[in-house]
Amino acid sequence: MKNVPVVIVIFGGSGDLAHRKLYPALYNLFEQGLLAENFAVIGTARRPWSHDYLREQVIDSVKETGAKTNLDRLTDFASHFYYQSHDVTNVEHYTAVKDLATELDQKYQAQGNRIFYMAMAPRFFGTIATHINDQKLTGSGFNRIVVEKPFGHSLDSAKVLNDEIKASFDESEIYRIDHYLGKEMIQNILPMRLSNPLIKNIWSSKYIKNVQVTLAENLGVEARGAYYETSGALRDMVQNHIFQIITLLAMGEPASLSSSDIHAKKQELVDSMLIPDSEFVTRHFVRGQYDRTDDTFSYLQEPNVAPDSKTETYVAGEVKFKAGALKDVPIYFRTGKKMREKKSRIDIVLRHMNNLYGQAHSNNITIIIDPRSEIYITINGKKIVGSGIRRENLTYRFDDYENAQVADGYERLLRDVVCGDQTNFTHWSELAKFWEFIDAVELAWSKENEAGKAVIAQYPQGKLGPVEADEIFETPTERWIYE
Ligand code: BG6
Repeated sequence: MKNVPVVIVIFGGSGDLAHRKLYPALYNLFEQGLLAENFAVIGTARRPWSHDYLREQVIDSVKETGAKTNLDRLTDFASHFYYQSHDVTNVEHYTAVKDLATELDQKYQAQGNRIFYMAMAPRFFGTIATHINDQKLTGSGFNRIVVEKPFGHSLDSAKVLNDEIKASFDESEIYRIDHYLGKEMIQNILPMRLSNPLIKNIWSSKYIKNVQVTLAENLGVEARGAYYETSGALRDMVQNHIFQIITLLAMGEPASLSSSDIHAKKQELVDSMLIPDSEFVTRHFVRGQYDRTDDTFSYLQEPNVAPDSKTETYVAGEVKFKAGALKDVPIYFRTGKKMREKKSRIDIVLRHMNNLYGQAHSNNITIIIDPRSEIYITINGKKIVGSGIRRENLTYRFDDYENAQVADGYERLLRDVVCGDQTNFTHWSELAKFWEFIDAVELAWSKENEAGKAVIAQYPQGKLGPVEADEIFETPTERWIYE
């Protein structure tokens, strides 16, 4: 692989994301030769770390992934790391980062290429972007900025942040990251849809009755109560991950696999997204909070959560589009904390068809994203004994060797940033539409709250969410497939 010269500046270099995901991902890119002798990484954060201390952290972070490593290679890799203590609000500190970046650029002959990674609390994103601009941190080669989620809190705040970033970076230089877009089975949605006549030809409202996306988690809000109170499941999971999955499922076929053709088709779809009014939200959305058990807290008892909080830890809802492959197909989604198990899956439910055998079961296509990668199609056939129809699964799954080859999402996405490929990153105009949808739901909910009509279903931990979510469907013949 051809190596790319670059200086990478990570804002939040002492943080959890850098340690767990970014450093191991960069190491793999180094092992693959994409990063070689001409790269340097500057980690910045408030703590008074030294270069050596950062390097120790980097080595530990790679070792902790359990990857087989060669200590000499790892030490060589870590030698490219530099630490700059930095307070994001102190303008002078940006000059120090700039000077270090210039020095390392020369030392490693990085050709003026820069990647800035915002891996810290989102409230600082705007400030950092502003100072990258006014302190002129960008280099003379390519400049790219990676922005973690959440990108704003509403359409208005996202616009403000976007303008702050746009002061220094063009849309083609902004990488709004959504780690779901790096997952194996999400990257497999388009190939699966478009390379199988069996699937491609039924991908329309003529054959598909509805689509169901479930992102269930068994963990609660853990130590993130304060953040979660400002977010809730709708902003935390639907605005980004769920809408990205739905876009890949529902978009039309792009003219080619180029980033611009893929984004053009995504945009066409997203522009046709129906923005829900209050009546639609009341009818087709359910919000909930997990209840207590004998040994665990309810959401309302978690640290940093208001005792009368209306923040949802579960949401189920519906979205529809007026264009794209799934035009007019109801697309249902649900996500929640403290559910039965960690399971991210998509169920494509096909319409029943009259047939000579009477009671055939519906065909469904199920894509399991996590905890393992799998696709299965339910299929009808003859019962071995007696008459009638039985149902079996045709399964597509990886063996252990293949599973071990599946790259972590962050590694794939970082590789894309280094290579300048924006296919798997969110464009501003897509994001803006997603926020418009979320704002509409939030508005409907706040009206319900003000009128004293908020229905926040308490759901038992360890189940698949509140029973009220069984009522969100458009017709009585629809139900959740995964139950
Ligand atoms: C994050 C959310 O974006 O995604 C978390 O902020 C959530 O609340 C996480 O737990 C889920 O990601 P994954 O990859 O574990 O499904």
